[in-house]
Amino acid sequence: MRKKLLLITFYILSWNALVTGSKFYSKIFKKKQKKPCDEETLVNLLAEIQVINPEAIINLSTMEEVKPLCKKVSENLEKIEEILADCKPPHQPDLYFQLIKGEEILYRKLCTESAFKQQFQGHFSCFHKFRSEFDKCNGTPDWIENSDPEVICAEYKKISNCYYEITGTHCGQEAAEVMKELVISIINSILTIKCDINEIGTNPEDALELEAGPEGKKSLKTKLLDKLKDKKDIKSRAEQKKNYISYEVLLVVLTNFIHYTM
Ligand SMILES: *[C@@H]1O[C@H](CO)[C@@H](O)[C@H](O)[C@H]1NC(C)=O
Repeated sequence: MRKKLLLITFYILSWNALVTGSKFYSKIFKKKQKKPCDEETLVNLLAEIQVINPEAIINLSTMEEVKPLCKKVSENLEKIEEILADCKPPHQPDLYFQLIKGEEILYRKLCTESAFKQQFQGHFSCFHKFRSEFDKCNGTPDWIENSDPEVICAEYKKISNCYYEITGTHCGQEAAEVMKELVISIINSILTIKCDINEIGTNPEDALELEAGPEGKKSLKTKLLDKLKDKKDIKSRAEQKKNYISYEVLLVVLTNFIHYTM
């Protein structure tokens, strides 16, 4: 009887070790051991489609019709995703990762079904016709890398106003609004600092969308709350399990104790 109980104790203790032990973490740990991403490969992929600064990404939108553009952009993003799946991104913020975000926003604005895409397509022929005019809107070289946030925001304002004015002059007020929305969405996604959006001017919906990041329109707060809830659920389940096991062990230990002393 005593032997049997000891065996059960041993069995339960080992089970406990298995549940709380390191077997699962070793898998996670292995996944974490990715090598750093090869910057040159990424840069080449970005350069291939001319994603070299915010203006160049905006430039893409006026170069060719939405359909061929989206094909090109999605093929490029696919290659980038493939690379990123197997390597560790550098410490953020990183210029190349910021540019990838800008390209993703371009895709989201023009290549997924939305009212905005319709509006953009409606004015595309005019954007295309006057595309070389937008060259005037280029910021000073490497403006997004300036160490002074005020300089960045001033440049940002100048660029977005320029796109607005040039589009307004040639394609009308409505087209100007559409172009400005695209410009703001793309530049916001690339910059790591926040410029006063009111000063630059955008629709509030877009600002919300951007705050939530490219994953969706859910507000940041909602997402955080969701995460917290998930964590609590997992934690309480784990605790229940743990308590259950501890009771069992305690019971066996007690029984053994009684046997020994009797
Ligand atoms: C826009 O793209 C065209 C064609 O690739 C290029 O010639 C032009 O310099 C680009 N403009 C800007 C502002 O990048």
